[in-house]
Amino acid sequence: MPVERLRIGVLCSGRGSNLQAILDAARDPSYPARVAVVISDNPHAYAIQRAREHGVPAELILPASFPDRIQHDLAVAQRLEEHGVGLVALAGYMRIVSPQFIRRFPGRIMNIHPALLPSFPGLHAQKQAVLYGVKVSGVTVHLVDEGVDTGPIILQVPVMVADEDTEESLSARILEHEHRAYPDAIRLFAEGRIRIDGRRVYTKRS
Ligand code: GAR
Repeated sequence: MPVERLRIGVLCSGRGSNLQAILDAARDPSYPARVAVVISDNPHAYAIQRAREHGVPAELILPASFPDRIQHDLAVAQRLEEHGVGLVALAGYMRIVSPQFIRRFPGRIMNIHPALLPSFPGLHAQKQAVLYGVKVSGVTVHLVDEGVDTGPIILQVPVMVADEDTEESLSARILEHEHRAYPDAIRLFAEGRIRIDGRRVYTKRS
């Protein structure tokens, strides 16, 4: 009997290149997780097409169809539960999820951020890093708590910032690392190799 892999629900608002990296990792049957559903808030998100090309259900849940942010979040949560997801992965989801959403999936929501948190949270992290003049930025994968980009950090990858870097060139270099970091972090979670103690995340070696 094949072992049931962890079912992931991926939330995306746009291009979906991190979704693609997760879909690609999950093509390997020995990868311990698979994408059960992709949900987007944006009808133009290329992520929807990527999911469908992989035969993964993709659903559009438009914020404008709901009276407020919480009702929208609860509709998304309900669909994720109906797909039996054990992990929610935010992958370029350009919305701040409400506490009501987070409480439905305690300790089971991950986000990827294109900077070394706690530096440069929020939007345009790569631009913030270039304008600030840091010499090192990078990637953070973290669990989501009720703050903005404040949850316990699972892994980080440093990326050097060169003198000639622009927002675009730095974003492209960070993105290459994102595409390895997110599947790696999901693997750690799916294999039960993460232990959380307050802010600290301890990783068991395989
Ligand atoms: C990625 O760089 C991701 O880290 C960033 O949006 C991009 C989405 O790209 N997320 C944030 O800035 C969240 N604050 P993608 O749609 O190609 O995965």
